[in-house]
Amino acid sequence: MKAKLTFADIGVTVTVPQGTRIIEVSEKVGAGIEYGCRESDCGTCLTEVVSGMEHLSEKSTFETNTLAQHKAPPNMRLACQTLVLGDAVVKPRG
Ligand code: FES
Repeated sequence: MKAKLTFADIGVTVTVPQGTRIIEVSEKVGAGIEYGCRESDCGTCLTEVVSGMEHLSEKSTFETNTLAQHKAPPNMRLACQTLVLGDAVVKPRG
């Protein structure tokens, strides 16, 4: 199964295999999502989900805790942790 992941900041849509991490794609296409630890710890990769939140993987306990530490609103995920399971649109946090 494939999923379409769109990066709203650069207007690029990529078709990826289900289960691909956002971080794996955003780096390749040059989207403006930044990274630090890649281990759900630093919160640098906080990413706004414009649409398709229901098509993303469940949050791990680590991700939930990191999102809470950064007071992230419900429409944010960590790009280093989130797997794309269906079509979604994301953009770097504002
Ligand atoms: S890169 Fe550190 S939490 Fe994602």
